[in-house]
Amino acid sequence: MKCLFILDPISTLDPGHDTTVALMEATQARQHPVWITEMATLGVAEGQAWALAQPVTLEPVQWLNNRWHIPQPWFQLGEKEPVKLEDFAVVWMRKDPPVTIPYLYATYILDYVNPQKTLVVNRPAGLRAANEKMYALQFNAVIPETIVTQSKDTIKAFLAEREGAVLKPLGGKAGEGILFLHRDDRNLNSLIEISTHQGKTPVMVQQFLPEAKLGDKRIILLNGEPIGAVNRVPTGAEFRGNMAVGGRVEVTPLPSAIGLFVNRLPQPSNGMVYILWALM
Ligand SMILES: Nc1ncnc2c1ncn2[C@@H]1O[C@H](COP(=O)(O)OP(=O)(O)O)[C@@H](O)[C@H]1O
Ligand SMILES: [Mg+2]
Repeated sequence: MKCLFILDPISTLDPGHDTTVALMEATQARQHPVWITEMATLGVAEGQAWALAQPVTLEPVQWLNNRWHIPQPWFQLGEKEPVKLEDFAVVWMRKDPPVTIPYLYATYILDYVNPQKTLVVNRPAGLRAANEKMYALQFNAVIPETIVTQSKDTIKAFLAEREGAVLKPLGGKAGEGILFLHRDDRNLNSLIEISTHQGKTPVMVQQFLPEAKLGDKRIILLNGEPIGAVNRVPTGAEFRGNMAVGGRVEVTPLPSAIGLFVNRLPQPSNGMVYILWALM
């Protein structure tokens, strides 16, 4: 069962951190050939999605003495060749955000993979529908007060009533571009202008939750069943808890209020993995 992973350049991945490497290692351990490609090589010809891809062999990481040991080199690449995406059993879209125009176009190319022949994870239409940040707005009753706007006046009016707020670019990940805003900050105007590209790109602005210093939980659901959670705790010198900015990771029990969210999610299809983020 050949599997193709669409990646950021493989040399930029960290086998001790990146889930994508864990997925590729798990695929290889089950004797399935692993191939990789980058988003920029994707295209369509004769109604078929193509890519320039190469096989990869991984040297798995080892967990020893409380840390990951990464063999050097940890991967070996085969020859690049043009491939039809439908010749793979599974295509994993693992290119990291930011969600840019080329990222969105890649999802349109992936629409030209016949789902009867090949499983594309995540589904391209799902990637377009579930924006990194905006997806959460449908759970309005359980999220902090949140607005989405490109207007400086609207953001300043929101701030005027609060001790602080958090600004988030809509297509980011791993804490990138996340700002703490305070109405008295001398850089406030400039921070808003930079983030909204001079009022031309909408951003999310959210009530600041001081409880976030205790961490935010990543909850993993398989086929709609919550199966585990990790808490990411900010260092103390930084309000963002993301692992990519030094947040500490700890195992945590599933929050008791989890049912509130799970019942509101769309019916999962077979093998579907949801990941939720919550402060509970
Ligand atoms: N409303 C908030 N109040 C306090 N801290 C927040 C708030 N929103 C986000 N954060 C902090 O910033 C981090 C990154 O925000 P998040 O919305 O998860 O974006 P990303 O997709 O970049 O992870 C969170 O893990 C949390 O530590
Ligand atoms: Mg997050």
